[in-house]
Amino acid sequence: MTNDDLLPTHIAVIMDGNGRWAQARGLDHLEGHRAGADALRRVITECTELNIPYLSAFAFSTENWRRSSREVEGLMRLMVEFAEKEAEELKQNGVRVVPIGDLSGLPRDSAEALRALRQYTGGSERLTLLLAVNYGGRADISRAAAIIARRAAQGELDPNQVDAGVVSQHLYTHPFPDPDLVIRTGGEMRLSNFMLFQAAYAEFISSKVLWPDFRAADLRRALRTYRRRERRFGTRTQTQKEG
Ligand code: IPE
Ligand code: IPE
Ligand code: MG
Repeated sequence: MTNDDLLPTHIAVIMDGNGRWAQARGLDHLEGHRAGADALRRVITECTELNIPYLSAFAFSTENWRRSSREVEGLMRLMVEFAEKEAEELKQNGVRVVPIGDLSGLPRDSAEALRALRQYTGGSERLTLLLAVNYGGRADISRAAAIIARRAAQGELDPNQVDAGVVSQHLYTHPFPDPDLVIRTGGEMRLSNFMLFQAAYAEFISSKVLWPDFRAADLRRALRTYRRRERRFGTRTQTQKEG
């Protein structure tokens, strides 16, 4: 089965390349992140226009704390700014923002801004944006394991019934569908700990475009590539291509 006429239900983007973008222009790294927020805005708009129901965006990983305190603080401030400035327009455009990741590990004002954004846009239904902040795939799975273990210890859950479906129900991304397509900008060929469980059968596209330069046209190009892919999910099919 090919998916010629199918758009993905859920696109996930690993927004990488902000630093290189800034460096190439002799700008401060934080200017790259600021331009990255503009790129996210454009991709959100394009997804609403294409009627894509779910978009995930990797904004800050559990490993990004290893960066300089100046950069981390700048990113946290940017998060607050984005949440406050964009709330109205996101809501008007039917975008619901669901932060995923450990908000309790963020500075209080960043966590509050993200919670407020979730609350404010909660009624929107056109596009769900899963904004991954202080998110790591390993932390996601470990947290699910801990919740499941606790529930099993309390007799709420039979350990023999724990399967991939049960694990999935305890991830940050529940009840949303798994990504069909993961796009990484900046040219790297790795997941960097993003949605390790959820992306098991996602198509992966690495784009050399640096995230602040990523435009609607780049997204549409990725979608054309996606349509040419044959998703087999472990089966053997007649349409299997040569080479
Ligand atoms: C991605 O851009 C954004 C975050 C990780 C927050 P980078 O800052 O990693 O950009 P490069 O990889 O250094 O170009
Ligand atoms: C991945 O980018 C994380 C985000 C885009 C938020 P990184 O720049 O942190 O990834 P590595 O360090 O190159 O693997
Ligand atoms: Mg990077």
